[in-house]
Amino acid sequence: MSTRTLQQIIPSITTSDGGGVKLRRSLGQNQTLRVDPFLMLDEFSSTDADDYIAGFPDHPHRGFETVTYMLDGHMLHQDHLGNQGDLKSGGAQWMTAGRGIIHSEMPQQESGRMRGFQLWINLPAKEKMKPASYQDVQPEEIPIVNLPDGGQVKIIAGIAEIDGQTIAGPIQGISTGVLFLDVHLPVGGRFDHTVDAMHNAFVYPYEGQVEMGPIGNRRSLASQTAGVLSPGDRIEIQAVDQAAAFLLLAGRPLGEPIVQYGPFVMNTREEIEQAMTDYRNGQLV
Ligand code: FE2
Repeated sequence: MSTRTLQQIIPSITTSDGGGVKLRRSLGQNQTLRVDPFLMLDEFSSTDADDYIAGFPDHPHRGFETVTYMLDGHMLHQDHLGNQGDLKSGGAQWMTAGRGIIHSEMPQQESGRMRGFQLWINLPAKEKMKPASYQDVQPEEIPIVNLPDGGQVKIIAGIAEIDGQTIAGPIQGISTGVLFLDVHLPVGGRFDHTVDAMHNAFVYPYEGQVEMGPIGNRRSLASQTAGVLSPGDRIEIQAVDQAAAFLLLAGRPLGEPIVQYGPFVMNTREEIEQAMTDYRNGQLV
């Protein structure tokens, strides 16, 4: 067993997207800051409706998958097929854009607060043109495991092994075998977890800071910063001075060329041009 160390730190930057939604972007703030297969991680967090009320009006996607996870508030969504839904506080949505989807995502506050994440995950070349699909996950479908020292783990996607139990999250079947955990630790709390040695992994604390790595090589990771981990099959994380909450993501790297133009993520420039032509001609979806 080798414990992964903190290899690269990607502080989030404040930016805006969609109709002018203010957000913090760590992965994906430029095209060199990705962790294959993860393309982008956005965190939305605001108590001011002006920061997000314009939402993400109708926009297209092609060539990848997204997981949206809401902590507070909710997200109304609607797509070109006429599907609509309301992603609730504590719930998640898994969308496979595949060959194309055109949708709107409109954040709504609850008790004055809106907070959540959107993660973009690449699709392998052979699956980029598959039909679009999505799945809404209700908050009560997300398993919660209590840790012996008072911490708590929510399993949003993939399969976690915690204290000898194997627990499957509601989202299964992301092409790159993604594990998506939301972990809360009290002061001094610790979380050790086995991860597939072939998967890339990163951690994103959104409250408090954590320390990671094996004893003798611990490094601290600040809040709202993505910490990319070295290869290994085990992760050790501790909240030292303050309680912490963080996302832990792991997935199988694709090792394929990436050409991205805004909401289109393909393997070649020609495929991007095709996506733009298809969108212009109403043939994206
Ligand atoms: Fe979108």
